[in-house]
Parts: sequence; structure tokens; C-alpha cells
Amino acid sequence: MGRTVAIETLKLAKAFGDVKAIEHLSFQVWEGEIFGLLGPNGAGKSTTLRILLTLLRPTAGHATVFGHDVVQEPDRVRRLIGYVPQERAIDRFLTGREHLLLLGSLYHLPKDETLRRIREILKLVDLEDRADHLAKTYSGGMKRKLDLACGLLPNPKVLFLDEPTLGLDVQSRLRIWDYIRRLKERGITVVMTTNYLDEADHLCDRLAIIDGGRIMALGSPAELKAGLGGDVVSLTVGAADMDRVESLAKSLKAVPSIRAISTKPSGIDIRVESPEKALPAILDAANQQACRLEFIEYHRPRLEDVFIAQTGHAIREEFPSGE
Ligand SMILES: Nc1ncnc2c1ncn2[C@@H]1O[C@H](COP(=O)(O)OP(=O)(O)OP(=O)(O)O)[C@@H](O)[C@H]1O
Ligand SMILES: [Mg+2]
Repeated sequence: MGRTVAIETLKLAKAFGDVKAIEHLSFQVWEGEIFGLLGPNGAGKSTTLRILLTLLRPTAGHATVFGHDVVQEPDRVRRLIGYVPQERAIDRFLTGREHLLLLGSLYHLPKDETLRRIREILKLVDLEDRADHLAKTYSGGMKRKLDLACGLLPNPKVLFLDEPTLGLDVQSRLRIWDYIRRLKERGITVVMTTNYLDEADHLCDRLAIIDGGRIMALGSPAELKAGLGGDVVSLTVGAADMDRVESLAKSLKAVPSIRAISTKPSGIDIRVESPEKALPAILDAANQQACRLEFIEYHRPRLEDVFIAQTGHAIREEFPSGE
């Protein structure tokens, strides 16, 4: 279909001693798209990124960036990429602009080109006003903008972003999403990791759901949701009846049009062919188990439902509803 492959991995694996951080990871990223690696803590997202960045050697498998092998041709790869790490490395004694100038000299960019690029990038991430203030006075969102600016300085064809909005407030997150979309408009390929379902859903053109170092599903958010089929009926059980969740789940297994059942501490998510048909039987089962339902709702599959269906668990155990 004439799409250029920006990144390709083939059965990529990395072990740290006995810990298999990633295994059998095979995927392609098209030029110009925003590609996401979505997974919980410890899934192997940063490890995958570090291999693509030539910072880690894979234990097995291959990876290329625009056709250049990350192990065989690390220098060629490095000239094509920019990186925004998960942990920010901001020097508290420099201003935002000084950070970028320092980076420009590390990259051996000509001075006038560095100055020109810095002006352009500061404008792109709305940091012009604060560029000459010490970075230690920046808010979390401004620090993240500076990180982004640093990643863009080498004028990369591919920008790698590790958890670009982790810990930011809602407004800052939306702003960062907006900048990432602007990069895409400029033809930059973006590969990002996230453990936010809404971020993957709204920002990524395609994503790989990764769990325990393996890809569990891959596609556009719409494809992944459509692939699940049917609707999701969510039952919230009254506090007094929470010990009946498991027995209710068991009795629901006999209901025909039910495709999948997953329990959570406060209730049950049921994937059904058609809620109209399944609902009466679900209510009957709850009655028979003397399980009082506090709340019933049904919705089209969300990315959260895809995640649970593919991995068997919620992305964050402490917040079963996702965000
Ligand atoms: N340098 C290392 N030495 C030993 N084990 C490591 C190392 N780096 C990562 N791991 C392990 O590899 C697994 C994957 O880690 P990784 O950092 O890639 O996960 P992640 O998806 O980025 O998680 P998070 O969302 O917490 O950033 C984890 O079990 C982690 O403990
Ligand atoms: Mg990580």
C-alpha cells in the first residue's frame, strides 16, 4: 500500500539475568504515524524503546530504524532519532534555553543552526515566554515541554517518547497531546509508551498492547475495539453482597449470548452479543443468587475492555476502571 516502514522488530527479546523483560516482540511502525506501546508497569515498554534507541543490546531478534539495524549500525540509527526519556534529567541551574544550547553543542550542531532550531522548537511547545527562566522554576508540565524540546533538537525523523504525560494534570496532558499531533503533521514518526488507556485511544494511530514482555494485540484503537465485538454490560454489586460476585459470575456462565465474564472487586463486566437479549437472563441470575445490584450500565467496547480481554487483567489493579 506504499507505506514506508519506519521501524521493524522481529522476534525481539531481552533478558536481564532470569528476568525476561521482553520476548518475541514483532511489530512494524509506518512512517508518519503515532505508534503506541500500551502496557502496565514492568510490561517491557522502556526496554523495547531502549533497544530501538541503541542504548541496550537485544538478547535475541532484530530491530531496524529506516532499514538500519540497531545493533549493526547504531551510528546511522542515532542520526535519525530523538528521545524523550521517562525520567527527566533537568539541570536545576540552567534555563530552558541554556539546556537546549548545551544539547546543541553535544550534538555538534552549528551555532546558528542551533539558535534557529531553538527558536522554532520553543515556539512549537509554547515555552518562549519562560525560556530564559531557570528550569527549576518550571511546573511539571513546563518541564515536560522542555523534555520534548530537547528530544526535537536533533531534528529527528523518529521521536521516541517514554510516558510523555506521566503524572501531569489533565490540561498539561492535553497540551502535550496537541504538540505530539503537530509533530505528526510535520511528518515526524512518533513512537511512544503509555499506561494511560485514554492517551492510547485518543492519540495513537496504532498501538501494541504489551503485557509481561509480549504483544497481546496490535491495531488501531478502532480496530481493537471492533475486534472485541458485542457490548459490555457492567454490574456493580452492593457492598453487602460483594462475597457473591464469584458465585454470580459462575451462574452467568450458563447464559447463552454471553461471550466473556471478568470479575473485579466491586462487580462483574460481561461481554454480550446483544444486551437486550442478555439482560433479562443476567437479572434473573442475580435474583437467584440473591445478589443485589447497585448499578447496571452497558457500553460499546472501550480500550479498557480490550485490554482486559487480551491480558486477563486491568491495566492498574488499584483502579479497575482504568483512568
Ligand atoms: N537494567 C535492568 N536490570 C534488570 N531488570 C530490568 C532492567 N531494566 C528493566 N528490567 C526489568 O524488565 C522488566 C521490564 O521493565 P521496563 O522498564 O521495560 O518496563 P516498563 O513497561 O517500561 O514499565 P514502567 O511502566 O514501570 O516504566 C521489569 O521486570 C524490570 O524489572
Ligand atoms: Mg518504562
